[in-house]
Amino acid sequence: MPLLCVNVDHIATLRQARLGREPDPVLGAHEAELGGASGIIVHLREDRRHIQDRDVEILRRTVGTKLNLEMAATAEMQDIALRLRPDTVCLVPEKRQELTTEGGLNCIGREGELSAFLAPLLAQDIEASLFIDADPAQIEAASKTGAQFIEIHTGHYADAVSPAATKAELEKILTGIRHAQGLGLKVNLGHGLNYVNVLPFAHVPGIVEYSIGHSIVARAAYVGLRQATRDMVEILRGFCD
Ligand code: PXP
Repeated sequence: MPLLCVNVDHIATLRQARLGREPDPVLGAHEAELGGASGIIVHLREDRRHIQDRDVEILRRTVGTKLNLEMAATAEMQDIALRLRPDTVCLVPEKRQELTTEGGLNCIGREGELSAFLAPLLAQDIEASLFIDADPAQIEAASKTGAQFIEIHTGHYADAVSPAATKAELEKILTGIRHAQGLGLKVNLGHGLNYVNVLPFAHVPGIVEYSIGHSIVARAAYVGLRQATRDMVEILRGFCD
């Protein structure tokens, strides 16, 4: 069964709306774990718009499953990761003006730079993942960086508006998964996934983790985060592998 890693950024988005103390993503992470999450994900953005340094520091000590730190490939973030030692780092592109991560990381022509960035993290036994589009050239470049994982960006699939476009985006992802696995990469999926659009991946072999945030936090507003996590875990439990 593939694993569910819950991104709790948007618990922090709500807290930051009032610049107060609640809701606390640390408590959210605990609820997600009690609901069956196999991991907790936070994106510490350069502009600190949701997750704060304090959140990552506390989560490092309280998360009992595994902690995945999403971050840009900057010296500041590398220092933080080396100090806090999350279980995994996932490198993502970051733009100040974007509402959320808009596309995958460009790895083409940056294989050496990314390898050098990841080397000290890998040396500390931190696993590395690259968030990329399902583009064969990106996948090949990612396979030359030392990262053990890629996370295929499912946002274009999630945002597709017609059945034909959805099918085409799904096909790209399925081809990308096979390509990456053939190159020895482990494959995660994430961005824009919800309780419905995740279903076509049910019979796709070898997907290790689903990284899901917004839809679970949105559902949590009605049923609580523990139950919202449980509902997604239940769906993934029905996926064969
Ligand atoms: N994966 C990555 C790399 C992301 O940046 C995000 C959004 O922070 C997610 C997964 C989760 O996306 P969503 O919140 O749409 O489920």
